[in-house]
Amino acid sequence: MTRVACLLGSPRAGGNSDLLAGAFCDAAGEAGASVEQFALRDLLFQGCVSLRHCKTGGETCGLGDDLNPVLSAVAEADVVVIATPIYFCNMSGLAKQALDRFFSFFVPDYVTADVPSRLGRNKTFVLVQVQGEGADRYGDLLDQYGPALDKLGFQRRELIRASGVREIGDVLARSDALQQAKTLARDLTGGGV
Ligand SMILES: Cc1cc2nc3c(=O)[nH]c(=O)nc-3n(C[C@H](O)[C@H](O)[C@H](O)COP(=O)(O)O)c2cc1C
Repeated sequence: MTRVACLLGSPRAGGNSDLLAGAFCDAAGEAGASVEQFALRDLLFQGCVSLRHCKTGGETCGLGDDLNPVLSAVAEADVVVIATPIYFCNMSGLAKQALDRFFSFFVPDYVTADVPSRLGRNKTFVLVQVQGEGADRYGDLLDQYGPALDKLGFQRRELIRASGVREIGDVLARSDALQQAKTLARDLTGGGV
């Protein structure tokens, strides 16, 4: 069974990124996947503070806050989703703080190791991105994170994006993005298109 871990990175509950990620997760669930969703806004956690516990004998993040169960779910998942609004030309701070903690998945000699990540090489990363501005902006965000995601073992990386959405629920009128989310979910979970 395909396992999906979805991290909701908007501070706004029920907003456009939640809704678009929800369309993906619902379709994945209907196709038989096991889906776990984590609203990062409800968790007490820090970004990486470079403790280096994960590089000096520990195999997991040494911080021990609310994000650790999320990191465990990411490690177990086949498909990892980060859903985020564009905030000031990038992913939200909340999403980025969580992503920084993925540093704990790198092995101590990750710079030179043949397999640099404890996650292996077979996971898929899905970025669900919503933004107020038009489609001509921020289409390269996933590529920007590509080198790190590739090193983490996310060989396949996919983008689901809705642009020109600002108010809560605007994305529900974007049948193209919703359909893209559903189609990709079925594709990644073996449910067919
Ligand atoms: C603090 C803040 C910064 C934002 N910065 C941008 C931006 O740089 N570019 C953009 O296109 N939209 C920007 N937006 C708009 C959001 O991306 C947009 O409203 C989105 O639909 C919010 O997603 P959500 O409903 O999932 O929270 C910003 C919104 C906020 C609140």
